[in-house]
Amino acid sequence: RAGRVVVVGSFNVDHVWSVAKLPDTGETLAGEYHTGPGGKGFNQATAAARAGADTVFVCALGDDIGGQLARALATADGIDLRDAHSHAPTGTAGIYVDADGRNCIVIGAGANASLSPAFVADQHDLLGSASAVLAQLESPLAAVTEALRIACAAGVVTVLNPAPANAVASPELLALATVLTPNETEFVALLGRAGIDSPTADAIGGLGDDALHALCRRLHPRGSVVVTLGAAGCFVSHAADALRGDTSGTYRIAAEPCQAVDTTGAGDAFNGALVAALASRPGAAFAEHVTFANRYAGLSTEAEGAAASMPRQADFQARFGPGDG
Ligand code: RIB
Ligand code: NA
Repeated sequence: RAGRVVVVGSFNVDHVWSVAKLPDTGETLAGEYHTGPGGKGFNQATAAARAGADTVFVCALGDDIGGQLARALATADGIDLRDAHSHAPTGTAGIYVDADGRNCIVIGAGANASLSPAFVADQHDLLGSASAVLAQLESPLAAVTEALRIACAAGVVTVLNPAPANAVASPELLALATVLTPNETEFVALLGRAGIDSPTADAIGGLGDDALHALCRRLHPRGSVVVTLGAAGCFVSHAADALRGDTSGTYRIAAEPCQAVDTTGAGDAFNGALVAALASRPGAAFAEHVTFANRYAGLSTEAEGAAASMPRQADFQARFGPGDG
């Protein structure tokens, strides 16, 4: 297990109902229920660990059954948990998924809201000596900013997954990311908040490379942007002086064909696998890491659940052969 990654983020107990259609106001529906571990931070940490990285997860858990679940699962996956121990209940997510895979999510941040910049600052040595640091926007902005500030000051590669789309990242936080990884919806939300005109999220995948690159450069002038496009794969845009071994400033990586049964956490799979690859093979071209992350995320959609669906190295190799995984 080469190269350590530190993931700073949320843990949620996911409560998921599969329904024929999403409920209307005042409506009562029956659905099939399942529960399991989730939260963008924990999903990404699980992906990083299962993709082969030595993984630390910085989080805030409650003193309850959800917190016990997170601790047990982290131990099982060899994740080094740095828990701020909150008095609030462990985070939860209520998720309705319809027959077309569309969803509605309500988050009860609970303990996640008490992840403080001071607790993150206590992890200074871990953050500063990591090969890569990964964070999302499901945790307090101040804590996430502190993590990336410490990593940047130590010259550590930082990846910011600006999810969920309604969470607001400050311009300072965005500028601290070596790599930004929005999906189409998050990309359009970021552009809107930055005052940059853009088409709707549905139209992003259909833009030409030059137009997409121009939007990425305006949004994140000094860093790299990977826009994930679901079944259309992803688009990569580097700053001119940050080609990271790539021969071109932009390219697309096609999605791997997969038999998706549950796309919950697919973006998290992508981000966790991307930092695992960056940490494990720092000399390889960025495009190789993105290709690995893309395959890893595709495979994660073939299993139900969020964290529980993250492929292990053996599953990955059985599908794609030995190599990066
Ligand atoms: O990205 C998927 C995650 O978002 C779910 O696991 C849920 O907890 C929400 O945070
Ligand atoms: Na899944």
